[in-house]
Amino acid sequence: MPDNIHTEFHRMMDREAKQRQLLQCGHVFWLYGLSGSGKSTLAVALERALADAGIFSKLLDGDNIRSRLNQDLGFTDTDRRENIRRIAEVARLFIESGVVVFASFITPNQSLRAQAMEIVGSNDFTPIYVKASYETCAKRDVKGLYAKAKAGSVKNFTGKDSGFEVPHDLDPDWVIDTDALSEVDAVNQLIQRILPLVRI
Ligand code: ADX
Repeated sequence: MPDNIHTEFHRMMDREAKQRQLLQCGHVFWLYGLSGSGKSTLAVALERALADAGIFSKLLDGDNIRSRLNQDLGFTDTDRRENIRRIAEVARLFIESGVVVFASFITPNQSLRAQAMEIVGSNDFTPIYVKASYETCAKRDVKGLYAKAKAGSVKNFTGKDSGFEVPHDLDPDWVIDTDALSEVDAVNQLIQRILPLVRI
């Protein structure tokens, strides 16, 4: 840290006080997977389901963040790393205020996922792999990006000319196969695992 920076963390209300105020525990649920795998759909449904259960949350989503905070970043490896770094720092600010965060980003590499976990802190971070094959995502092609990538007009497209590392050592509790599971079943399954982590 530069020596002309004097942080004020020690004088601010701390996380415990914020959590007591909100009667919940901050936590980051990091949904990752290919574009079109269903991350945003699940995150939106989870945000609503938590609200119904009286838990306050914030959803951070790829295209939204890239349209404002990270509008200067593209899809090279360096830019994706900076994208994830900034988002993890923002998520950290939220959990310091006792808020539950759903982060929905491709996060294509193990090292990027590890970076996010390190910034947030492993106790407060749960990765959720939203699994769907490239073929399934290309068939859904909600945003028309797979067709464009096929035609060669999207550079560094994840799963095509930019890699996606399929995770290993997965905890089956935190893998959602959207090829096999309906949205309602996926949300019900996740909510049962999420609530005990965020309730005081
Ligand atoms: S990440 O790799 O840095 O984690 P992020 O989740 O923020 O990616 O952004 C992904 C979204 O950007 C996709 O859902 C898609 O709508 C859009 N996008 C545009 N260009 C690309 C590309 N080349 N590769 C992947 N996604 C892209």
